Amino acid sequence: MYIQKVSLTNFRNYEHCDVTLAPFLNVFKGNNAQGKTNFLESIYLASIGKSPKTTKDKDLIKWKEKNAKISVNVKKQYFDEKIELYLRNEGKKSIKINEVIIRKIGDLIGEIPVVYFAPDEIGLIKQGPADRRRFMDIDISQLNKSYFYLLCRYEKLLEERNKLLKQTKNFESLHNTIDLWDTQLCDVASKIIFYRLEFIEKIKIPAKDVHLKITNGEENLSIKYQGINLKTVEEIKQKLFEGYKKNLKKDFDFGFTTIGPHRDDIEIEINDVDIRNFGSQGQQRLATLSLKVAELDLFEKTLNEKPILLLDDVLSELDAKRCKNFLEIIKNFQTILTTTKFSRKIRQNDAVFVVKNAKIQRM
Ligand SMILES: Nc1ncnc2c1ncn2[C@@H]1O[C@H](COP(=O)(O)OP(=O)(O)OP(=O)(O)O)[C@@H](O)[C@H]1O
Ligand SMILES: [Mg+2]
Repeated sequence: MYIQKVSLTNFRNYEHCDVTLAPFLNVFKGNNAQGKTNFLESIYLASIGKSPKTTKDKDLIKWKEKNAKISVNVKKQYFDEKIELYLRNEGKKSIKINEVIIRKIGDLIGEIPVVYFAPDEIGLIKQGPADRRRFMDIDISQLNKSYFYLLCRYEKLLEERNKLLKQTKNFESLHNTIDLWDTQLCDVASKIIFYRLEFIEKIKIPAKDVHLKITNGEENLSIKYQGINLKTVEEIKQKLFEGYKKNLKKDFDFGFTTIGPHRDDIEIEINDVDIRNFGSQGQQRLATLSLKVAELDLFEKTLNEKPILLLDDVLSELDAKRCKNFLEIIKNFQTILTTTKFSRKIRQNDAVFVVKNAKIQRM
């Protein structure tokens, strides 16, 4: 699969732009503050339905304008697809797939599978576990729509359980009511954990291989799910149920649920050192990149379509050799990358665009 065309109207600093993309490498180069990241953000929005940078649609609309539109034409293996997003200053955004309005974001996710990497993504390793859970949640949702709906359901059930914990005055009376919530919660939570374990299991070897390739065999990357680590949904459910019971007094005292998938994490080590705490900036950044690149094959195998790789400003921290290794690994996927400098030779069918003051021109 690849994106053929992107059209923007009043999106961020763009008044209007139409760009026809190449099927493999697309380099967007330009000085700072010209609109490179904004362009990538528009594609991310058409894929995930929300921005990686803001939760306010208003921020995405060109200043002083009322509406914005993003339109993306995709070439899939067996058919073409058009995704359109209409953003409004007042009121909700609307989304169309092939001219038909969709009602839920869940219907959009997975239509244009993307693997996204931006400077902030380093948070995936450096910041707290929330970023690592977000990484799993967004990417597993793209691979499996039912996972996205499980997450929505879990969030609601958890909110209800926490409300009950806060509102109940007497610990003894909690026993009578909480079991009903815990049964439902465990049912959903065990599936979420199961899918996450499966995801980590599937990317851990590719991530290690990619990382060895980029670093010329210098760094051994290993990842592991930090949470319940059991083989079947039933076993996970049982363990969780016991956990909720064991922690009930603590949960009651704190007023929220202290265990479950909303508290889990990913362990990330390089040469046996936990780089979440002890990695250098460069190591953390590269490990994040390896995790993302490792997903490409998994996406392709699971969805039967090649995903699209969106890379914001990734080349700047790679030395010449690592950069070459990296471009070699991703050469068979449509990649849209931004950079301030680019002087490498590209293949005949690849494209370099110059971004200047919200205008994009192919070189
Ligand atoms: N809603 C908006 N309306 C108009 N302009 C906006 C809006 N949101 C952001 N901008 C402007 O868009 C410009 C380009 O931003 P962008 O992040 O795309 O730059 P960039 O080319 O990626 O630069 P860098 O190389 O520094 O990352 C910024 O100057 C920003 O102020
Ligand atoms: Mg930028």
